[in-house]
Amino acid sequence: MAFQVLNYTIRLLKLNILLKYGTSYPKIYENQWLCSIFANKNPKCNMADKATLEFEGKKYEFPVITGSEGEKAIDIKTLRSATGGLTTIDPGYKNTGSCTSAVTFLNGEEGVLRYRGYSIEELADKADFLEVAYLLIFGELPTEAELNKFHSDIKTKSHVDEDIKKILDGFPKSAHPMGVLSSLTSALIAFNPASVNADSKEDMYNAIVNIMGKFPVLVAWALRKRTGQPLDYGDDSLGYVDNILKMMFKRPNSEYKIDPVVSNALDKLLILHADHEQNCSTSTVRMVGSSHAGLFASLSAGISALWGPLHGGANQAVLEMLEAIKEDGGDTKKYMAKAKDKNDPFRLMGFGHRVYKNFDPRAKIIKVAADDVLEKLGVEDPILEIAKGLEKEALNDPYFVDRKLYPNVDFYSGIIYRAMGIPVEMFTVMFALGRLPGWIAQWKEMRENKEPIGRPRQVYTGEKHRAFKEVSNR
Ligand code: ACO
Repeated sequence: MAFQVLNYTIRLLKLNILLKYGTSYPKIYENQWLCSIFANKNPKCNMADKATLEFEGKKYEFPVITGSEGEKAIDIKTLRSATGGLTTIDPGYKNTGSCTSAVTFLNGEEGVLRYRGYSIEELADKADFLEVAYLLIFGELPTEAELNKFHSDIKTKSHVDEDIKKILDGFPKSAHPMGVLSSLTSALIAFNPASVNADSKEDMYNAIVNIMGKFPVLVAWALRKRTGQPLDYGDDSLGYVDNILKMMFKRPNSEYKIDPVVSNALDKLLILHADHEQNCSTSTVRMVGSSHAGLFASLSAGISALWGPLHGGANQAVLEMLEAIKEDGGDTKKYMAKAKDKNDPFRLMGFGHRVYKNFDPRAKIIKVAADDVLEKLGVEDPILEIAKGLEKEALNDPYFVDRKLYPNVDFYSGIIYRAMGIPVEMFTVMFALGRLPGWIAQWKEMRENKEPIGRPRQVYTGEKHRAFKEVSNR
């Protein structure tokens, strides 16, 4: 009897945990008994599948978890303890899931991208960037009242301490705006609460509206510093994206008129860049945040990761490549040959993707938008034709076809940015502006799920233990 009461109490306790951490998968999943009971209610908690590992004559079983879209993953959380120290090796994390996430779904084989269940095509067509930011960060599309409050709170926080200008002043005009943006985002810590209490909804919300308000100011200042324009603030009467455009392009002695073609194009581009699950910069944001470093510090690290030409920096690299091809007489075949030559470091920038092996759905939308925007703005850019020529050749070339290399989000975006009058060094900054809500959403999820500190293992291949040699003996 006593045993039954005890058993019943434990069950109630476990049910309590489940109710409390309903969406916090890692907390409850540790308990496989609970998982088996609620397997049909929680798709992440499917214990039916198991994977068996045979090593040195022994068999080990590991649970297989299933995501809400049916994707499966072997859960190796107990691998080391069960096997007495065995680890896995997977450079570049090509096969390794670092977390469970409810933010973005991506199927690279079929070219599917969804934010919180909504397709990227529908969002780019029907939503605006601020709505998408809210959706990513808080999980649902906002009501009108929620959106208005979000926007109004962002505007309240959009003031950047004047002393930040002194830091900006220390940079030479020639400094790359990505370096400037990363530094200024980090510098914000000195003027704002350094850390966020992740258990306080209010604290979390304040940090979010703070950075959503201040980041566009830093982006605009990074551009204005480079172009020698006075550093100014925004206009509260404007929408989020229109305000960004005005902050970037307003001249001191003339009115700035919003061009709806430019404004709509930027809105769409920002939506398409807003999140992309566990890419290099987002994983960086989660990793840095996992040490409980604050939001701004984590974002600053994410900006640095995005800067590289294999990631967000590719949009600048694409434009420079297309320009170089044009300058060189427009011979696309010559550059195709270089891209295929294993002895030549040249790569077709804007081509290939770690996860998309069919097409990048963002690139499809951007290609159509590029034609539309250039036509509406009356811009004739010869590099658009070079880009289309390269794409056509690559899509019919066995090297690219066999390796499943398709244009990615960065291939056509730079052509639109250029038509909008944005200098090439600012392209990756525009990417960061779009990615901000995704980074915030992923950082918030990581903290709310109470994820452990990110700390991969390694396989050591250096010298074995050896005795120290005095300098005279070396
Ligand atoms: N041009 C020529 N060959 C390429 C290209 C390219 N752009 N991309 C990949 N390949 C080849 C590789 O040489 C390799 O060939 P091999 O199998 O004969 O050795 C094969 O395709 C696989 O390439 P990996 O580099 O192993 O693929 P990975 O998934 O590691 O890299 C990446 C993906 C970094 C995007 C790569 O395709 C690339 O460098 N592309 C150009 C840069 C770019 O556009 N980056 C933006 C990505 S989108 C984003 O981050 C926003």
